[in-house]
Amino acid sequence: MREYNVAIVGATGAVGEQMRKILESRDLPVSHLKLLASERSEGKRLTWKRVGTEVEVLGADSFQNIDIALFSAGSEISEEYAPIARDSGAVVIDNSNAWRMDPEVPLVVPEVNPAALMGHHGLIANPNCSTIQMVVALKPLHDRWNLKRVVVSTYQAVSGSGQKAVDELMAQSEAYLADKPLDIESYPHQIAFNLIPHIDVFDDDGNSKEEMKMVHETRKILDLDDLPITATTVRVPIVVGHSESINVELSEPVDVEEARKILAESSGITVIDNPREAEYPMPLNAAGMDDCYVGRIRRDDSLASGLNLWVVADNLRKGAALNAVQIAEVLVRAGLKE
Ligand code: A2P
Repeated sequence: MREYNVAIVGATGAVGEQMRKILESRDLPVSHLKLLASERSEGKRLTWKRVGTEVEVLGADSFQNIDIALFSAGSEISEEYAPIARDSGAVVIDNSNAWRMDPEVPLVVPEVNPAALMGHHGLIANPNCSTIQMVVALKPLHDRWNLKRVVVSTYQAVSGSGQKAVDELMAQSEAYLADKPLDIESYPHQIAFNLIPHIDVFDDDGNSKEEMKMVHETRKILDLDDLPITATTVRVPIVVGHSESINVELSEPVDVEEARKILAESSGITVIDNPREAEYPMPLNAAGMDDCYVGRIRRDDSLASGLNLWVVADNLRKGAALNAVQIAEVLVRAGLKE
């Protein structure tokens, strides 16, 4: 069987670590894994298939003989190095925001729009974490009832901002409980024992960049250029697992039981929806898991055809690393990467 040389750019980060673990546990045939990071990590050893593997410093010559390059080191690194990797012969799957809205670049969630990979030009974008878990839940509903409008509010874990933010949440929590001064660096405010309705920068209309990513990326992935959609994104003091309250307006009235069944039968979704027994998706259950968890499925009686959903997923896995690896798997399976 053909095997592939794979590189992870940003291998020492929160998403890069998950990429390594996920590659170990899945079927993508990897002959060699190259771990790339900044000079800060030079000489560091990470485990790959129980063997210590040295992290190498990212450079223009890092991609010789690499077939698949998974990028998770931020937009600036992707802007500079993704074209270099592609021109060296690798297919790039990029987790940053750098290329997502480029019309030449497929933006892919394998359960939702795998056909977008056909005719790719060596650079594929992984959507924003909040977008991925939302479109996984929206697509089956759209296929059955046609989406008319989406309103979403998110509750996003700090690991979405990288390992430094996770460390900061822990340090702030300890300092707060010990009544000591808090170091505040990752966010404009303390995140421990708080939440912050501010992810990325605000535009002139008062929407954050994260909110507009959800709008534009969802339209691109679902191929619904005019879909009315509005988002409010909020950072919460959770380490792993993004949650979303999604209100959907559909083109005709929805049978809730049928919606539950359609969602439960859809690829990548597990329905947990028994609120009377206190059973619904929560970040604690979704962390470390692959599926998007959907619950609190109920009619929204303020609309003729409205539905409310609660969707939770591991933002580092399905929201980032797993989705990227799944894209690589589709490419290999479909013969889109020789
Ligand atoms: P390093 O650990 O050497 O700084 P996170 O999202 O958790 O903050 O991780 C970011 C990842 O991107 C890390 O692996 C980090 O490596 C990597 N990274 C950041 N800046 C660079 C750079 N200039 N060159 C290569 N990798 C980088």
